[in-house]
Amino acid sequence: MKGAKIIGTGSYLPEKILTNFDLEKIVDTSDEWIRTRTGIEERHIVADDEAASSLVVNAARKAMEMASIKPQDIDTIICATISPDTPFPSTGCWVGTALGIEGVPAFDVSAACSGFLYGLIVADSLIKAGTAKRILVSGVEILTRITNWTDRTTCVLFGDGAGTVIMEESDDDSGILSSYWGADGSLGDLLIQPAGGSRMPPTHETVDKNLHTIYMKGNEVFKHAVRKMALAAEKVLVKANIKPEEIALFIPHQANIRIIDATIKRFGIPREKTMVTIDKIGNISSATIPISLDWAVREGRIKKGDLVLLDAFGGGFTWGATLMRW
Ligand SMILES: CC(C)(COP(=O)(O)OP(=O)(O)OC[C@H]1O[C@@H](n2cnc3c(N)ncnc32)[C@H](O)[C@@H]1OP(=O)(O)O)[C@@H](O)C(=O)NCCC(=O)NCCS
Repeated sequence: MKGAKIIGTGSYLPEKILTNFDLEKIVDTSDEWIRTRTGIEERHIVADDEAASSLVVNAARKAMEMASIKPQDIDTIICATISPDTPFPSTGCWVGTALGIEGVPAFDVSAACSGFLYGLIVADSLIKAGTAKRILVSGVEILTRITNWTDRTTCVLFGDGAGTVIMEESDDDSGILSSYWGADGSLGDLLIQPAGGSRMPPTHETVDKNLHTIYMKGNEVFKHAVRKMALAAEKVLVKANIKPEEIALFIPHQANIRIIDATIKRFGIPREKTMVTIDKIGNISSATIPISLDWAVREGRIKKGDLVLLDAFGGGFTWGATLMRW
């Protein structure tokens, strides 16, 4: 059974930048607090006329250019997002139409910050099973539209953006070597957008109470994130019989620099071999890993044959890791 490999990457960040100093004018916070507690310096924020699908389209065009393919060469579209264009149709469907791709399956994956890795694992399985040949996998979020701008404990964390990859069957030993994923809904209330679904439909009251925004018990989430990211990374390394020192580049979800540092400390992966983008983009949930991967590729930090480890944790709770040979 042939594995699946990435043949192109692309990312897109909205033009407008919101700095920590800008946030000092909105809530009772400081650049110093945000930088030292999270590692974030600035984040990008969408323009009024942008939606999740338009961010994906911009990123996907760059990925297709790198892969030297046309939209019509794609036979499946997977979008990981918790901030879709519309509850339905899926963002994947909107992306397909915007790219002029007709008739191919398109759907969204909802696994919060682990969403892109969930999408990648699904894509890998579809290619291995022969169900698909060339898949566009994206992570996209417009979190600033589901942010409570009066809550300083969350509004300083999030940003907007999209990252995409194109996957196809591998013809050599490159591609995904092992993956691991998991979920635990019993802890779902610790990181949640409470209203807007069938459990709590929109009403004037839910809007007035800011219940359509992200609610998070940050310090609880923090502990679980470190534990589960370490578990997921260990599982994929053991499964592929690879030692941490063999990893050329570690690309973790960018939620907090202290979570990243705690995770690499457990594994003995040095900071120089770790992709850190949180200072410039903040937490963009499912988009942080594909954006970071794209930057790494374009900066020449990954070369043919390198072992690359992706690792995420998010709302659900969900977690996952993927090890690939580039
Ligand atoms: C959110 C997070 C940065 C908060 O950092 P923390 O060290 O846990 O901070 P706490 O929530 O314990 O708050 C500490 C103090 O800082 C204050 N504080 C919180 N946000 C603040 C802000 N933006 N500016 C200034 N002070 C702030 C709190 O009110 C609290 O004050 P108190 O001690 O007087 O009550 C951190 O918990 C985190 O990153 N959590 C995980 C996020 C994550 O992994 N998400 C996963 C997937 S998206």
